[in-house]
Amino acid sequence: MNSKDHSGPSTNDSASVYSQKFSVEFDYDVHFTRSTFDEANEMFLDVLDRRGEGRRHRILVCVDSGVLETHPDLPRKIKDYCHAHQEKVELVGTETVPGGEEAKVDWKIVEDLMIALGNNHMDRQSYVVAIGGGSVLDMVGFVAALVHRGLRLIRFPTTVLAQNDAGVGVKNGMNEHGQKNFMGTFAPPFAVINDFDFLPTLNQDHWLGGVSEAFKVAIIKDKKFFDFLCGSAHAIAQREQGPMEELIRRCAILHLQHIAGNGDPFEMGTARPLDFGHWSAHKLELLSNYEIGHGAAVAAGIALDSYYAKKKNLISADELKRILDGISNCGLKVWYPEMAQRNDSGELAILQGLKEFQEHLGGRLTITLPEGIGKKVEVHHMDYDLIEEGLFYLRDYAQQRSTDNGDVKAG
Ligand SMILES: NC(=O)c1ccc[n+]([C@@H]2O[C@H](COP(=O)([O-])OP(=O)(O)OC[C@H]3O[C@@H](n4cnc5c(N)ncnc54)[C@H](O)[C@@H]3O)[C@@H](O)[C@H]2O)c1
Ligand SMILES: [Zn+2]
Repeated sequence: MNSKDHSGPSTNDSASVYSQKFSVEFDYDVHFTRSTFDEANEMFLDVLDRRGEGRRHRILVCVDSGVLETHPDLPRKIKDYCHAHQEKVELVGTETVPGGEEAKVDWKIVEDLMIALGNNHMDRQSYVVAIGGGSVLDMVGFVAALVHRGLRLIRFPTTVLAQNDAGVGVKNGMNEHGQKNFMGTFAPPFAVINDFDFLPTLNQDHWLGGVSEAFKVAIIKDKKFFDFLCGSAHAIAQREQGPMEELIRRCAILHLQHIAGNGDPFEMGTARPLDFGHWSAHKLELLSNYEIGHGAAVAAGIALDSYYAKKKNLISADELKRILDGISNCGLKVWYPEMAQRNDSGELAILQGLKEFQEHLGGRLTITLPEGIGKKVEVHHMDYDLIEEGLFYLRDYAQQRSTDNGDVKAG
């Protein structure tokens, strides 16, 4: 008997293997907008009825506590909006969830939210509307992906990082087992609404966090965008909204194009270019007990891998300087003392991040590095001595900048 028919699905009753094959298409819109819940604005209603179902859509809103503190009128605005359009939308409830990384470590929050979804009889045609930073979006997205094996999710990212990276992609996650995103699923959203009106209330750290992700994707994919970032660095540091909105739009679209176009949206392979600079960043977040946020850690991670790329002759000394100056001119740091922390056997603790990164993806170690600005290359070995050298180079660079009173001109 033929043990396997390689010509496609088999209808032979006696075959011992039936080769199953199908593909599922995903599509979702990412809106760049403002004033979503002004009563006259029908965009949100159009999003809910994107499939032309023409019914009264049920929504349950989950709001990040940090957003609620800084936008206390938001629940009332949403309630008034839903009331004004009650023939098209039913507000089932509003849940407040703790903002920040805490959302991704406390399983009680997950359980409570699952129960709330159940108590409100949310079904697979109902919408979970998640409003918050990347952490809340990751946690709510995780819950929404599991209840009834997947409710519809509409994300409202409210930090720069969430709008230009975390909120526009296909992943969610919880931290567990001492690792970031140890648990999680791939679950594309129904829609993403990047409303720029959320940004003015961000503190400086969360205003800047997403800037690192913009440098990340520019350095490996888009030289013109990199030039724009370096040229806009001081304006970004001064919180000018215009350049920031352009940064968010361009960065989000580069992420979206990568997800749709690289042939591996659900990361089945071992390469993960969008995680340039992240192997050390994830570890740094943990080593600091999350005192150093994701975006801040990514800035240092990019700097470290850029130094490494320079030592491997992948980028020039001038390109390394432009990267470090550009990041620093925005107000991000390229060095933290935690980067030099050693474990009991004297090894640099951050190096454990390389092993964890490999374990997370499986297969052989694959690290993305820049090759010039705007292009990337993958390497499968990292030289520990060079990484250590890089750490101390960055420490000296940071010291020099503070001696110069941060007065270095934009590169
Ligand atoms: N799923 C993905 O593809 C993906 C990609 C990148 C990052 N992430 C994850 O995203 C998380 C980081 O997200 P983040 O940088 O958005 O930070 P965050 O979600 O941790 O939020 C930071 C703080 O800002 C507050 N906040 C949120 N919006 C605000 C607003 N408009 N005004 C004032 N305060 C506000 C929050 O309450 C919180 O205290 C990390 O856990 C990271 O792993 C996920
Ligand atoms: Zn990131």
